[in-house]
Amino acid sequence: QLSLAIALVAAYLIGAIPTGVILARLAGIEDIRKVGSGNIGATNVYRAAGRKLGILTLLGDALKGLLPVLAVQLSGRFGPEVVALTAAAAFLGHCYPVYLGFKGGKGVATALGILLVLSPLTVLGAFIIFAVMLRLFWYVSLGSISAAAAAPVMVLLFEDQTASFAVTLFIAALIIWRHRANIDRLLKGTENKFRA
Ligand code: G3P
Repeated sequence: QLSLAIALVAAYLIGAIPTGVILARLAGIEDIRKVGSGNIGATNVYRAAGRKLGILTLLGDALKGLLPVLAVQLSGRFGPEVVALTAAAAFLGHCYPVYLGFKGGKGVATALGILLVLSPLTVLGAFIIFAVMLRLFWYVSLGSISAAAAAPVMVLLFEDQTASFAVTLFIAALIIWRHRANIDRLLKGTENKFRA
């Protein structure tokens, strides 16, 4: 049980690494949380610091989800329930990071990394939904919310694994909850449009 605890704590601490804050600071932005939407994620880093750092933030945040989950899965020491718990731990690390006073991101990129391990087909489907919504409406948040809402359904369709479905449902609910300020702005018509 010690190894289980170590895996979960390590996943949380990796998930909590504030990629966006670090990369934006390298670009000379003192605190990304005080710029644009105030979010630490790739969309806001892109907005504030440009395409290259935005993409690097997306990759970094995705790796924080992918690596711990892949490591636990490949270790062969744990079943699918522990893999799912590790995914939840990494995800919670990103959303509630100890290094930032528990105020973190919205979880989209980290969920992408997690789902690349749990259900690659879901990532493909979610990406198509995201891209279509973005192309139609030009709100990243609306694309993220739509993809998140569809993800648990796709895991249910594509995978035969209850633990993966359960953790994806949890992650999707938390992603949508953490977009509540965006949802408010979308309803008011004041949400930021994405500029490529
Ligand atoms: O993943 C976050 C994205 O959906 C919205 O980002 O900065 O516009 O709140 P932002």
